[in-house]
Amino acid sequence: MVSRLNQSLLGYFKPCYKRGGNLGHPIIGSHCKNWVFHSFNGLIVIGSFLCFMLAMAYWHMYVFPGPPAAIPIYDVPERAHSKSECNFFVGKWIRDENYPLYNASECPFAERGFNCLANGRKDNGYLKWRWKPENCDIPRFNVHDVLEKLRGKRVVFVGDSLSRTQWESMICLLMTGVEDKKSVYEVNGNKISKQIRHLSIRFSLFSFTVEFYRSVFLVQPGSVPKRAPKRVKATLKLDMLDDISKEWIDSDILIFNSGHWWNPGKLFEMGWYFQVGGKMKLGISTTGAFKTALATWASWIENMVNTNKTEVFFRTFESSHWSSRTQQKCKVTRQPLSKINGKEQSPFSDIIQNVVKNLSVPVTVLHVTPMGAFRSDAHVGTWSDNPSVPDCSHWCLPGVPDMWNEILFSYLFSKEKISLQ
Ligand SMILES: *[C@@H]1O[C@H](CO)[C@@H](O)[C@H](O)[C@H]1NC(C)=O
Ligand SMILES: *[C@@H]1O[C@H](CO)[C@@H](O)[C@H](O)[C@H]1NC(C)=O
Ligand SMILES: *[C@@H]1O[C@H](CO)[C@@H](O)[C@H](O)[C@H]1NC(C)=O
Repeated sequence: MVSRLNQSLLGYFKPCYKRGGNLGHPIIGSHCKNWVFHSFNGLIVIGSFLCFMLAMAYWHMYVFPGPPAAIPIYDVPERAHSKSECNFFVGKWIRDENYPLYNASECPFAERGFNCLANGRKDNGYLKWRWKPENCDIPRFNVHDVLEKLRGKRVVFVGDSLSRTQWESMICLLMTGVEDKKSVYEVNGNKISKQIRHLSIRFSLFSFTVEFYRSVFLVQPGSVPKRAPKRVKATLKLDMLDDISKEWIDSDILIFNSGHWWNPGKLFEMGWYFQVGGKMKLGISTTGAFKTALATWASWIENMVNTNKTEVFFRTFESSHWSSRTQQKCKVTRQPLSKINGKEQSPFSDIIQNVVKNLSVPVTVLHVTPMGAFRSDAHVGTWSDNPSVPDCSHWCLPGVPDMWNEILFSYLFSKEKISLQ
Protein backbone atom coordinates (compact mmCIF):
# COMPACT_ATOMS: atom_id res chain seq x y z
CA MET A 1 0.00 0.00 0.00
CA VAL A 2 2.82 2.31 0.86
CA SER A 3 4.36 1.91 -2.56
CA ARG A 4 1.00 2.63 -4.18
CA LEU A 5 0.62 5.81 -2.22
CA ASN A 6 4.10 6.84 -3.18
CA GLN A 7 3.32 6.29 -6.82
CA SER A 8 0.26 8.48 -6.66
CA LEU A 9 2.24 11.07 -4.76
CA LEU A 10 4.89 11.19 -7.45
CA GLY A 11 2.16 11.43 -10.03
CA TYR A 12 0.87 14.56 -8.36
CA PHE A 13 4.08 16.27 -7.57
CA LYS A 14 5.69 15.88 -10.97
CA PRO A 15 3.38 18.31 -12.78
CA CYS A 16 3.64 20.69 -9.79
CA TYR A 17 7.42 20.92 -10.09
CA LYS A 18 7.10 21.55 -13.80
CA ARG A 19 4.53 24.25 -13.24
CA GLY A 20 6.74 25.79 -10.52
CA GLY A 21 9.61 25.99 -13.01
CA ASN A 22 7.47 27.62 -15.67
CA LEU A 23 6.52 30.38 -13.29
CA GLY A 24 10.17 31.43 -13.06
CA HIS A 25 12.83 32.15 -15.68
CA PRO A 26 11.86 30.08 -18.72
CA ILE A 27 8.79 32.18 -19.64
CA ILE A 28 10.66 35.46 -19.46
CA GLY A 29 13.61 34.02 -21.33
CA SER A 30 11.63 32.74 -24.26
CA HIS A 31 9.59 35.92 -24.57
CA CYS A 32 12.69 38.11 -24.46
CA LYS A 33 14.25 36.25 -27.32
CA ASN A 34 11.43 37.19 -29.68
CA TRP A 35 11.33 40.82 -28.84
CA VAL A 36 13.13 43.37 -31.02
CA PHE A 37 14.44 46.37 -29.14
CA HIS A 38 15.14 49.55 -31.01
CA SER A 39 17.08 51.30 -28.32
CA PHE A 40 19.34 50.39 -25.46
CA ASN A 41 17.32 52.69 -23.12
CA GLY A 42 14.14 50.90 -24.03
CA LEU A 43 15.84 47.63 -23.18
CA ILE A 44 16.79 48.93 -19.72
CA VAL A 45 13.29 50.22 -19.00
CA ILE A 46 11.66 46.98 -20.04
CA GLY A 47 14.30 44.92 -18.26
CA SER A 48 13.79 46.82 -15.01
CA PHE A 49 10.06 46.46 -15.38
CA LEU A 50 10.36 42.69 -15.84
CA CYS A 51 12.68 42.41 -12.84
CA PHE A 52 10.17 44.34 -10.76
CA MET A 53 7.34 42.05 -11.89
CA LEU A 54 9.41 38.99 -11.14
CA ALA A 55 10.19 40.28 -7.65
CA MET A 56 6.49 41.00 -7.09
CA ALA A 57 5.60 37.51 -8.26
CA TYR A 58 8.05 35.93 -5.82
CA TRP A 59 6.84 38.16 -3.02
CA HIS A 60 3.28 37.15 -3.77
CA MET A 61 4.16 33.46 -3.77
CA TYR A 62 5.96 33.91 -0.46
CA VAL A 63 3.14 35.75 1.27
CA PHE A 64 0.30 33.67 -0.22
CA PRO A 65 1.87 30.23 -0.58
CA GLY A 66 -1.14 28.33 -1.87
CA PRO A 67 -4.71 28.60 -3.06
CA PRO A 68 -7.24 29.51 -0.34
CA ALA A 69 -8.17 26.62 1.95
CA ALA A 70 -11.09 24.77 0.45
CA ILE A 71 -12.30 21.21 0.61
CA PRO A 72 -11.12 19.59 -2.58
CA ILE A 73 -13.46 17.61 -4.76
CA TYR A 74 -12.26 14.47 -6.51
CA ASP A 75 -11.03 15.91 -9.76
CA VAL A 76 -9.01 18.91 -8.68
CA PRO A 77 -5.30 18.12 -8.70
CA GLU A 78 -4.70 18.77 -5.03
CA ARG A 79 -6.21 15.62 -3.66
CA ALA A 80 -5.96 14.17 -0.22
CA HIS A 81 -2.99 11.96 -1.01
CA SER A 82 -0.89 14.78 -2.32
CA LYS A 83 -0.09 15.80 1.24
CA SER A 84 2.46 13.24 2.22
CA GLU A 85 1.79 13.30 5.96
CA CYS A 86 -1.95 12.88 5.64
CA ASN A 87 -3.37 10.00 7.59
CA PHE A 88 -7.14 9.91 7.08
CA PHE A 89 -7.68 8.33 10.47
CA VAL A 90 -5.96 10.84 12.73
CA GLY A 91 -8.11 13.92 13.17
CA LYS A 92 -11.21 15.33 14.80
CA TRP A 93 -14.88 15.89 14.16
CA ILE A 94 -15.89 19.42 13.23
CA ARG A 95 -19.36 20.97 12.91
CA ASP A 96 -20.55 21.18 9.33
CA GLU A 97 -24.03 22.40 8.42
CA ASN A 98 -23.77 20.70 4.99
CA TYR A 99 -24.44 17.40 6.72
CA PRO A 100 -26.27 15.02 6.67
CA LEU A 101 -25.87 13.99 3.03
CA TYR A 102 -29.27 12.27 2.71
CA ASN A 103 -32.60 11.72 4.41
CA ALA A 104 -32.97 8.10 5.52
CA SER A 105 -36.76 8.32 5.25
CA GLU A 106 -36.37 8.93 1.54
CA CYS A 107 -33.96 6.05 1.04
CA PRO A 108 -35.75 2.71 0.61
CA PHE A 109 -32.59 0.82 1.58
CA ALA A 110 -31.99 2.44 4.97
CA GLU A 111 -33.52 -0.06 7.37
CA ARG A 112 -35.95 1.28 9.92
CA GLY A 113 -33.79 0.07 12.81
CA PHE A 114 -31.04 2.56 11.92
CA ASN A 115 -33.28 5.52 11.05
CA CYS A 116 -33.09 7.25 14.43
CA LEU A 117 -35.11 10.32 13.43
CA ALA A 118 -37.98 8.15 12.20
CA ASN A 119 -37.79 6.22 15.47
CA GLY A 120 -38.30 9.33 17.55
CA ARG A 121 -34.89 10.88 18.12
CA LYS A 122 -35.55 14.59 18.64
CA ASP A 123 -32.10 16.21 18.81
CA ASN A 124 -30.41 16.41 15.43
CA GLY A 125 -27.02 17.92 16.25
CA TYR A 126 -25.45 14.46 15.87
CA LEU A 127 -26.09 14.68 12.11
CA LYS A 128 -23.92 17.73 11.57
CA TRP A 129 -20.36 16.57 12.03
CA ARG A 130 -17.62 16.04 9.50
CA TRP A 131 -14.41 14.08 10.11
CA LYS A 132 -11.40 16.32 9.56
CA PRO A 133 -8.04 14.52 9.25
CA GLU A 134 -5.19 16.48 10.85
CA ASN A 135 -3.25 17.30 7.68
CA CYS A 136 -5.77 17.23 4.85
CA ASP A 137 -9.45 17.20 4.02
CA ILE A 138 -11.48 14.29 2.84
CA PRO A 139 -12.62 15.24 -0.67
CA ARG A 140 -16.21 16.43 -0.71
CA PHE A 141 -18.60 13.67 -1.78
CA ASN A 142 -19.58 14.25 -5.39
CA VAL A 143 -22.37 11.81 -6.14
CA HIS A 144 -22.39 12.16 -9.93
CA ASP A 145 -18.67 11.67 -10.11
CA VAL A 146 -18.80 8.54 -7.96
CA LEU A 147 -21.78 7.07 -9.86
CA GLU A 148 -19.86 7.42 -13.12
CA LYS A 149 -16.71 5.93 -11.67
CA LEU A 150 -18.60 2.91 -10.38
CA ARG A 151 -20.18 2.23 -13.76
CA GLY A 152 -20.00 -1.47 -14.63
CA LYS A 153 -18.41 -2.40 -11.29
CA ARG A 154 -19.30 -4.82 -8.53
CA VAL A 155 -18.95 -3.54 -4.97
CA VAL A 156 -19.09 -6.25 -2.30
CA PHE A 157 -19.36 -5.80 1.47
CA VAL A 158 -18.67 -8.85 3.65
CA GLY A 159 -19.16 -9.02 7.38
CA ASP A 160 -21.64 -8.43 10.20
CA SER A 161 -24.47 -5.95 10.78
CA LEU A 162 -21.99 -3.06 10.89
CA SER A 163 -20.99 -4.00 7.40
CA ARG A 164 -24.69 -3.98 6.48
CA THR A 165 -24.91 -0.44 7.87
CA GLN A 166 -22.05 0.73 5.70
CA TRP A 167 -23.65 -1.02 2.73
CA GLU A 168 -26.96 0.77 3.37
CA SER A 169 -25.15 4.06 3.85
CA MET A 170 -23.38 3.67 0.51
CA ILE A 171 -26.63 2.90 -1.30
CA CYS A 172 -28.37 5.91 0.27
CA LEU A 173 -25.45 8.22 -0.55
CA LEU A 174 -25.46 7.04 -4.18
CA MET A 175 -29.25 7.23 -4.53
CA THR A 176 -29.15 10.99 -3.93
CA GLY A 177 -27.76 11.21 -7.46
CA VAL A 178 -30.38 8.98 -9.08
CA GLU A 179 -33.63 10.65 -10.07
CA ASP A 180 -35.54 7.52 -11.03
CA LYS A 181 -35.48 5.72 -7.66
CA LYS A 182 -37.20 2.69 -9.22
CA SER A 183 -34.11 2.09 -11.33
CA VAL A 184 -32.38 0.96 -8.12
CA TYR A 185 -33.59 -2.42 -6.84
CA GLU A 186 -32.64 -5.64 -5.06
CA VAL A 187 -31.94 -8.14 -7.84
CA ASN A 188 -33.91 -10.99 -6.24
CA GLY A 189 -36.66 -8.81 -4.84
CA ASN A 190 -35.49 -9.59 -1.29
CA LYS A 191 -36.10 -7.34 1.67
CA ILE A 192 -33.33 -6.38 4.08
CA SER A 193 -33.33 -8.56 7.17
CA LYS A 194 -30.84 -9.35 9.93
CA GLN A 195 -30.23 -12.97 8.90
CA ILE A 196 -30.25 -12.82 5.11
CA ARG A 197 -26.92 -14.00 3.64
CA HIS A 198 -26.84 -12.06 0.41
CA LEU A 199 -28.41 -8.85 -0.86
CA SER A 200 -27.54 -7.20 -4.15
CA ILE A 201 -28.71 -3.72 -5.06
CA ARG A 202 -28.49 -2.91 -8.73
CA PHE A 203 -28.11 0.67 -10.00
CA SER A 204 -29.46 -0.23 -13.43
CA LEU A 205 -28.78 3.14 -15.08
CA PHE A 206 -25.11 2.77 -14.20
CA SER A 207 -24.82 -1.03 -14.49
CA PHE A 208 -23.23 -1.62 -11.12
CA THR A 209 -24.21 -3.51 -8.00
CA VAL A 210 -23.58 -2.86 -4.31
CA GLU A 211 -23.81 -6.18 -2.48
CA PHE A 212 -23.75 -7.43 1.06
CA TYR A 213 -22.76 -10.91 2.23
CA ARG A 214 -23.46 -11.74 5.83
CA SER A 215 -20.47 -13.58 7.23
CA VAL A 216 -19.98 -12.45 10.80
CA PHE A 217 -16.90 -14.63 11.46
CA LEU A 218 -15.60 -14.85 7.87
CA VAL A 219 -14.81 -18.53 8.56
CA GLN A 220 -17.00 -21.63 8.22
CA PRO A 221 -19.26 -23.21 10.78
CA GLY A 222 -18.45 -26.90 11.30
CA SER A 223 -20.14 -29.91 12.80
CA VAL A 224 -19.74 -31.04 16.40
CA PRO A 225 -17.32 -33.98 16.75
CA LYS A 226 -18.79 -37.07 18.45
CA ARG A 227 -16.61 -37.00 21.54
CA ALA A 228 -16.77 -33.26 22.13
CA PRO A 229 -17.74 -32.07 25.62
CA LYS A 230 -21.46 -31.48 26.19
CA ARG A 231 -21.10 -27.71 26.26
CA VAL A 232 -20.09 -27.70 22.58
CA LYS A 233 -23.22 -27.02 20.56
CA ALA A 234 -21.61 -25.72 17.39
CA THR A 235 -18.13 -25.11 16.01
CA LEU A 236 -16.24 -22.66 13.85
CA LYS A 237 -13.51 -24.00 11.56
CA LEU A 238 -10.87 -21.32 11.95
CA ASP A 239 -8.83 -22.69 9.05
CA MET A 240 -11.61 -22.63 6.45
CA LEU A 241 -12.98 -19.44 4.96
CA ASP A 242 -16.78 -19.15 4.73
CA ASP A 243 -18.18 -21.35 1.96
CA ILE A 244 -19.83 -18.35 0.26
CA SER A 245 -16.37 -16.80 -0.15
CA LYS A 246 -16.18 -18.00 -3.76
CA GLU A 247 -18.87 -15.44 -4.55
CA TRP A 248 -16.66 -12.60 -3.29
CA ILE A 249 -13.78 -13.27 -5.63
CA ASP A 250 -15.09 -11.71 -8.80
CA SER A 251 -15.65 -8.21 -7.40
CA ASP A 252 -14.03 -4.86 -8.14
CA ILE A 253 -14.21 -3.40 -4.65
CA LEU A 254 -14.28 -5.76 -1.67
CA ILE A 255 -14.75 -4.45 1.87
CA PHE A 256 -14.49 -6.74 4.91
CA ASN A 257 -15.20 -6.35 8.57
CA SER A 258 -15.39 -8.70 11.53
CA GLY A 259 -14.95 -8.26 15.25
CA HIS A 260 -18.17 -7.70 17.17
CA TRP A 261 -19.12 -11.39 17.20
CA TRP A 262 -15.78 -12.57 18.55
CA ASN A 263 -16.77 -12.34 22.20
CA PRO A 264 -17.59 -14.94 24.85
CA GLY A 265 -21.25 -13.90 25.01
CA LYS A 266 -21.84 -14.64 21.34
CA LEU A 267 -19.56 -17.71 21.26
CA PHE A 268 -18.81 -19.78 24.40
CA GLU A 269 -22.00 -18.82 26.22
CA MET A 270 -23.99 -19.98 23.19
CA GLY A 271 -22.06 -23.25 22.91
CA TRP A 272 -19.80 -22.21 20.03
CA TYR A 273 -16.20 -23.47 20.15
CA PHE A 274 -13.33 -23.61 17.70
CA GLN A 275 -11.80 -26.25 15.44
CA VAL A 276 -8.48 -26.22 13.60
CA GLY A 277 -7.42 -29.03 11.28
CA GLY A 278 -10.56 -30.98 12.17
CA LYS A 279 -9.67 -30.98 15.89
CA MET A 280 -11.44 -29.15 18.71
CA LYS A 281 -9.40 -26.34 20.27
CA LEU A 282 -11.21 -25.68 23.52
CA GLY A 283 -8.52 -23.54 25.12
CA ILE A 284 -8.23 -20.88 22.45
CA SER A 285 -9.41 -17.35 23.41
CA THR A 286 -11.67 -15.21 21.26
CA THR A 287 -8.83 -12.93 20.20
CA GLY A 288 -6.56 -15.93 19.59
CA ALA A 289 -9.28 -17.42 17.41
CA PHE A 290 -9.73 -14.12 15.58
CA LYS A 291 -6.01 -14.09 14.81
CA THR A 292 -6.20 -17.61 13.37
CA ALA A 293 -9.30 -16.76 11.34
CA LEU A 294 -7.60 -13.68 9.90
CA ALA A 295 -4.55 -15.73 8.92
CA THR A 296 -6.98 -17.96 6.99
CA TRP A 297 -8.48 -14.86 5.41
CA ALA A 298 -5.01 -13.54 4.54
CA SER A 299 -3.95 -16.67 2.72
CA TRP A 300 -7.30 -16.68 0.89
CA ILE A 301 -6.71 -13.10 -0.25
CA GLU A 302 -3.19 -13.94 -1.41
CA ASN A 303 -4.18 -17.09 -3.27
CA MET A 304 -7.71 -16.52 -4.52
CA VAL A 305 -8.15 -12.79 -5.17
CA ASN A 306 -6.57 -11.00 -8.10
CA THR A 307 -5.69 -7.72 -6.45
CA ASN A 308 -4.86 -6.26 -9.86
CA LYS A 309 -8.60 -6.30 -10.49
CA THR A 310 -10.05 -6.18 -7.00
CA GLU A 311 -9.38 -3.35 -4.53
CA VAL A 312 -9.52 -4.94 -1.08
CA PHE A 313 -10.31 -3.09 2.16
CA PHE A 314 -10.63 -4.23 5.76
CA ARG A 315 -12.44 -1.99 8.21
CA THR A 316 -11.18 -2.12 11.79
CA PHE A 317 -13.29 -2.50 14.93
CA GLU A 318 -16.17 -0.04 15.15
CA SER A 319 -16.09 1.63 18.56
CA SER A 320 -19.02 1.05 20.86
CA HIS A 321 -20.05 3.02 23.93
CA TRP A 322 -21.59 0.68 26.48
CA SER A 323 -21.56 1.80 30.07
CA SER A 324 -21.21 -1.75 31.36
CA ARG A 325 -19.21 -4.72 30.17
CA THR A 326 -22.32 -6.84 29.75
CA GLN A 327 -23.68 -4.59 26.98
CA GLN A 328 -26.98 -3.94 28.66
CA LYS A 329 -26.69 -0.30 29.57
CA CYS A 330 -25.66 2.72 27.61
CA LYS A 331 -26.60 6.33 27.20
CA VAL A 332 -26.35 8.11 23.90
CA THR A 333 -24.95 11.61 24.46
CA ARG A 334 -25.92 14.78 22.62
CA GLN A 335 -22.36 15.77 21.79
CA PRO A 336 -19.35 13.74 20.69
CA LEU A 337 -16.77 13.05 23.39
CA SER A 338 -13.89 15.49 23.62
CA LYS A 339 -11.60 12.90 25.26
CA ILE A 340 -11.54 9.28 24.17
CA ASN A 341 -9.28 7.90 26.90
CA GLY A 342 -7.95 4.82 25.16
CA LYS A 343 -11.17 4.01 23.29
CA GLU A 344 -9.22 4.45 20.07
CA GLN A 345 -7.53 1.12 20.87
CA SER A 346 -8.92 -2.31 20.14
CA PRO A 347 -7.13 -5.66 20.15
CA PHE A 348 -9.17 -6.57 17.05
CA SER A 349 -7.96 -3.50 15.18
CA ASP A 350 -4.36 -4.28 16.17
CA ILE A 351 -4.69 -7.83 14.85
CA ILE A 352 -6.23 -6.61 11.58
CA GLN A 353 -3.44 -4.05 11.07
CA ASN A 354 -0.72 -6.58 11.80
CA VAL A 355 -2.14 -9.19 9.47
CA VAL A 356 -2.63 -6.72 6.62
CA LYS A 357 0.87 -5.27 7.09
CA ASN A 358 2.28 -8.72 6.47
CA LEU A 359 0.34 -9.45 3.28
CA SER A 360 2.18 -9.85 0.00
CA VAL A 361 -0.67 -8.12 -1.88
CA PRO A 362 -2.10 -4.62 -1.40
CA VAL A 363 -5.02 -4.32 1.04
CA THR A 364 -6.11 -1.02 2.59
CA VAL A 365 -7.07 -0.86 6.25
CA LEU A 366 -9.96 1.49 6.98
CA HIS A 367 -8.96 2.27 10.54
CA VAL A 368 -12.27 3.66 11.79
CA THR A 369 -11.74 2.80 15.47
CA PRO A 370 -10.33 6.20 16.58
CA MET A 371 -12.86 8.31 14.69
CA GLY A 372 -15.77 6.27 16.02
CA ALA A 373 -14.42 6.51 19.55
CA PHE A 374 -15.50 10.17 19.80
CA ARG A 375 -19.07 9.51 18.67
CA SER A 376 -20.94 8.47 21.78
CA ASP A 377 -23.70 10.71 20.37
CA ALA A 378 -24.24 8.77 17.17
CA HIS A 379 -25.45 5.31 18.23
CA VAL A 380 -29.01 4.12 17.73
CA GLY A 381 -29.57 3.88 21.51
CA THR A 382 -33.29 3.28 22.00
CA TRP A 383 -34.27 4.81 18.64
CA SER A 384 -34.07 1.43 16.95
CA ASP A 385 -36.57 -1.24 15.91
CA ASN A 386 -36.33 -2.67 19.43
CA PRO A 387 -36.46 0.30 21.82
CA SER A 388 -36.61 -1.90 24.93
CA VAL A 389 -32.96 -2.92 24.38
CA PRO A 390 -30.52 0.00 24.18
CA ASP A 391 -27.87 -0.31 21.49
CA CYS A 392 -24.55 1.49 21.68
CA SER A 393 -22.86 -0.60 18.98
CA HIS A 394 -24.86 0.26 15.86
CA TRP A 395 -24.94 3.75 14.40
CA CYS A 396 -27.81 5.94 13.26
CA LEU A 397 -28.18 6.54 9.51
CA PRO A 398 -27.33 9.07 8.25
CA GLY A 399 -24.25 9.17 10.45
CA VAL A 400 -20.81 7.79 11.11
CA PRO A 401 -20.89 5.01 8.42
CA ASP A 402 -21.37 7.75 5.76
CA MET A 403 -17.92 9.04 6.69
CA TRP A 404 -16.46 5.53 6.28
CA ASN A 405 -17.82 5.58 2.74
CA GLU A 406 -16.52 9.06 2.02
CA ILE A 407 -13.06 7.88 3.08
CA LEU A 408 -13.45 4.73 0.99
CA PHE A 409 -14.37 6.80 -2.06
CA SER A 410 -11.42 9.10 -1.57
CA TYR A 411 -9.07 6.11 -1.39
CA LEU A 412 -10.59 4.71 -4.57
CA PHE A 413 -10.87 7.84 -6.64
CA SER A 414 -7.87 9.89 -5.64
CA LYS A 415 -5.47 7.27 -6.91
CA GLU A 416 -4.42 7.41 -10.54
CA LYS A 417 -3.55 3.89 -11.43
CA ILE A 418 -6.66 2.28 -10.08
CA SER A 419 -8.60 0.10 -12.50
CA LEU A 420 -11.73 2.13 -11.82
CA GLN A 421 -10.91 4.86 -14.30
C1 LIG B 1 -37.10 13.42 5.50
O1 LIG B 1 -38.09 13.00 4.59
C2 LIG B 1 -39.37 12.82 5.20
C3 LIG B 1 -40.28 12.15 4.17
O2 LIG B 1 -40.20 12.80 2.94
C4 LIG B 1 -39.86 14.15 5.71
O3 LIG B 1 -41.12 14.00 6.33
C5 LIG B 1 -38.86 14.69 6.72
O4 LIG B 1 -39.24 15.98 7.14
C6 LIG B 1 -37.47 14.75 6.13
N1 LIG B 1 -36.55 15.04 7.21
C7 LIG B 1 -35.63 15.97 7.11
C8 LIG B 1 -34.73 16.14 8.30
O5 LIG B 1 -35.49 16.67 6.13
C1 LIG C 1 -0.73 -8.34 -11.49
O1 LIG C 1 0.10 -7.33 -12.00
C2 LIG C 1 1.49 -7.59 -11.82
C3 LIG C 1 2.30 -6.39 -12.29
O2 LIG C 1 1.76 -5.85 -13.46
C4 LIG C 1 1.86 -8.88 -12.56
O3 LIG C 1 3.23 -9.18 -12.38
C5 LIG C 1 1.02 -10.02 -12.02
O4 LIG C 1 1.28 -11.20 -12.74
C6 LIG C 1 -0.46 -9.69 -12.10
N1 LIG C 1 -1.20 -10.72 -11.40
C7 LIG C 1 -2.27 -11.30 -11.92
C8 LIG C 1 -2.90 -12.36 -11.10
O5 LIG C 1 -2.75 -10.98 -13.00
C1 LIG D 1 4.25 -12.59 8.58
O1 LIG D 1 4.61 -13.41 7.50
C2 LIG D 1 5.67 -14.29 7.75
C3 LIG D 1 6.04 -15.00 6.45
O2 LIG D 1 4.90 -15.40 5.75
C4 LIG D 1 5.28 -15.26 8.88
O3 LIG D 1 6.31 -16.12 9.15
C5 LIG D 1 4.90 -14.43 10.11
O4 LIG D 1 4.44 -15.29 11.13
C6 LIG D 1 3.83 -13.42 9.77
N1 LIG D 1 3.58 -12.56 10.91
C7 LIG D 1 2.35 -12.21 11.29
C8 LIG D 1 2.26 -11.23 12.43
O5 LIG D 1 1.34 -12.62 10.74
